[in-house]
Amino acid sequence: MKVLIIGGGGREHAIAWRLGQSPRVTKLFCAPGNPGTAPIADNVALAADDLAGLLAFAQKERIDFTVVGPEAPLVKGVVDLFSKNGLKIFGPSQSAARLEGSKVFMKEMLVKAGIPTAHYKTFADPASAISHLDTAEFPLVIKADGLAAGKGVLVTNDKVEAQEFINATMGQKVFGASGDTIIIEQFLPGEEASYIVVADGKNFVPLASAQDHKRVFDGDKGPNTGGMGAYSPAPVVTKEVDEKIRRKVVAPLLKAMGQEGCPFTGFLYAGIMVSNGEPYVLEFNVRLGDPEAQPLMFRYHGDLLTLLEAAVAGNVAAVTPAWRNDAAVCVVIASGGYPGDFAKGFPIEGLDAEAENVVVFHAGTKREGGKTVTAGGRVLGVTAGGATIEEATKRAYARAATIKFEKMFYRKDIAHRAINRQ
Ligand code: AMP
Ligand code: GLY
Repeated sequence: MKVLIIGGGGREHAIAWRLGQSPRVTKLFCAPGNPGTAPIADNVALAADDLAGLLAFAQKERIDFTVVGPEAPLVKGVVDLFSKNGLKIFGPSQSAARLEGSKVFMKEMLVKAGIPTAHYKTFADPASAISHLDTAEFPLVIKADGLAAGKGVLVTNDKVEAQEFINATMGQKVFGASGDTIIIEQFLPGEEASYIVVADGKNFVPLASAQDHKRVFDGDKGPNTGGMGAYSPAPVVTKEVDEKIRRKVVAPLLKAMGQEGCPFTGFLYAGIMVSNGEPYVLEFNVRLGDPEAQPLMFRYHGDLLTLLEAAVAGNVAAVTPAWRNDAAVCVVIASGGYPGDFAKGFPIEGLDAEAENVVVFHAGTKREGGKTVTAGGRVLGVTAGGATIEEATKRAYARAATIKFEKMFYRKDIAHRAINRQ
């Protein structure tokens, strides 16, 4: 089968790496892909949100199956467009992708489905949002309604900071129309987990549990990023928590989406806060997490194509995903300055070193003048396996230490929570 993967980050390299090992994949394409996918797929020079270009390419190449990595093309309706043209594609429809495209829609669905989540209020004008701060309890959380590349959320204990964020979001429109409406919600203490399932519109199968590290600095300090590292399995998702997430979160959400007329097919990612043993939903994403995809794809041990095809056929429950019986850890190496401004174009050394049980997934890289250079905030995802999280972590850090580029940095405490628990 000819398979197309849409996207060009670390998540898409990990998906390509896993799908490329499927015996039924005869040819793999990535649009746009990156230097990491180049040896295993044909990279196609099309942006992930160039829907018309992607459709024309898929038709010309007679692509049998398409997998969508990032949220932007999903929110723009790539699944509807491909399906309408008779092409098989794995991901949610535009209407179902509103779960990630609009936090207001997501919250309304949570309330309709009776799923535990933080109490919240919605605001469409800055003055009433700011006056709400006078009576609100701190710490609180402020969220832009629309997509903001992981930067549209402020967790704060400080009223002035909250006012500034509201002014920037609703007044100066730093996230564009994504900040026309905001949510202010209750702060939930606890430990986070990324719970990702493959859904077929009605039923679902969970992937292995995972956890990422959203803050930029060690000790969970500094601003939120797209994710500085991830590991799987996540010990915070105990058997009991897992059962509660299936029963109290995923099943009622899929039912409510069906009733709403937008059944959900694709990777459904529940951002969970486990608070006193109970799962609360912080957000839904309509795709695999990045960097959660790196350890998850590393540990996936069956034919991923079979699972995704079954979901598109509405028959996901017939497939039981198989997992490597060990742990995987991904350490993200980032450009100095990320998630703020950073310089690009630095040559990367040490990419070709061989290390057993490690894959260096590319994210923000490109080829320039015969060299691989930095081209994004999150540059690489060094991903390693091991019998335990601790062993996988050591292996990932040993490999990361052999990579060099100007101004690079990475967190030194990835997986610390899981290790400390043991
Ligand atoms: P979100 O994009 O909604 O997942 O928010 C990004 C991050 O902000 C989450 O991963 C949490 O670390 C934090 N966060 C969001 N909502 C809350 C909340 N209600 N209570 C505590 N932390 C939160
Ligand atoms: N790692 C968080 C996300 O993919 O949204």
